[in-house]
Order: sequence, then C-alpha cells, then structure tokens
Amino acid sequence: MKAFIFDLDGVIVFTDKFHYQAWKTTADSIGVYFDETINNRLRGVSRAESLEIILERHTGILSADEKANLMEEKNNIYRKLLDTMKPADVSDEVRSVLNKLRQMGFKLAIGSSSKNTVFILEKVQLRGAFDAISDGNNITRSKPDPEVFLKAASFLGEKPQDCVVIEDAVAGIDAAKAAGMITVGIGDAASYKKSDYTIRSFAELLDIELFKEPK
Ligand code: BG6
Ligand code: MG
Repeated sequence: MKAFIFDLDGVIVFTDKFHYQAWKTTADSIGVYFDETINNRLRGVSRAESLEIILERHTGILSADEKANLMEEKNNIYRKLLDTMKPADVSDEVRSVLNKLRQMGFKLAIGSSSKNTVFILEKVQLRGAFDAISDGNNITRSKPDPEVFLKAASFLGEKPQDCVVIEDAVAGIDAAKAAGMITVGIGDAASYKKSDYTIRSFAELLDIELFKEPK
C-alpha cells in the first residue's frame, strides 16, 4: 500500500444535514416532496444527478436552464451552511489517524464528487493534510464511475492497485472497486458486501490488516 484516498462527505466531515436542508428548501420552492430517505439516496451522487433523483417526484418537465437555476439555488443555500463550519467539526480522531498515516509514509488524497471540496477543507483547516485532491471539478463522470479515484491516484503518482479507498457510500465502493483499488467501508458502506474491509470508527483504520488477504 502506498496511498489512502478518502471520500469527504460522510467520512472526513458530516455535511449530510446541510445537503438535506438545502435540497429541502429547494424542493419546497417547486412543491416537490423530499425527505431524509430520499436524501440518503444522494450520498456520493453528483449535484446534477441528485437533482434528477429529487425530480422523480415532480410531474412537469423542467428545462435545462430551470434545472441549472435549481442547482444554483441549492448550492447557494448549501454554501451558506458550509460557511458555519469550523475546525472543531473534524474530530480529533480523524486528525490523529491522518497524522499517523502520514508519519507512516503513506500519501493521502481526497476523492470526492463535491465541487465544494476545497471550500470545506479550508473551513475545517484540513487542506494541508492531503497531498492531492480529486473532486467534482476534475471529473466528467461521477461515482460509481472510477474516474474520481483514478485521477486521485494519478495526481499522487501511484498505481491504482497500491491505493486504499475509504468510503461511506455504496456508489463510492463500486467506483473504487472499478478502479482496481482496495476498499474500506465505513457508515452505510460498512454493511456493503463489496467493501474489502469494514470499520465502525475512523480509528479502526489503523487496525486493519491491510497486508493480509482481504476477507
Ligand atoms: C458528495 C455528496 O460528496 O458530493 C453528495 O455525498 C453530493 O450528496 C455531491 O451531491 C456533490 O456535492 P456538491 O458540493 O458538488 O454539490
Ligand atoms: Mg460520502
């Protein structure tokens, strides 16, 4: 193993509640039903695909411009919520594991579908913890396509098979497997059968026997 690639939302930071609030306000503005169960389906999915999932309950047809406006409305609300984030929103556990992996000589990257990745990392003062960032701004296909993780490996100068991906979304585990990487599932993805390893807490990452055969 040479490198660890971390998903951002749901792994390093917990922005689900902000996505939910922003999409709920946006959905309400066009009279579309939206709840936390639908919000769970948006995990790991791009902004545009998230809107399509929300619009499954919309009866009319929206133009490309109308969809772009809704995405902008959602993102403006979301950014205001993100703006309240501070370093204390990242646990000491996460910071300590990242530091230890770095001390052990591993390269660290982010592989996230979010176009707000750098904004979030700066708010929580973690920008400097990563050697590379692959995010929604440098991909054309979102998870479960492997592009975001393959780009992260390439930015790090490492082979995909030498990278370990930590993900909370099923689409993210599928993307990492498609990239030929080793996968660690946390949160929702901890019960996903395609996760090579599962962890219940971030600190357990250091206990995984990565150099033995996966389960
Ligand atoms: C992912 C989230 O990290 O980023 C998704 O899990 C979200 O829920 C996606 O839709 C895109 O985020 P953004 O910040 O570009 O709207
Ligand atoms: Mg996630």
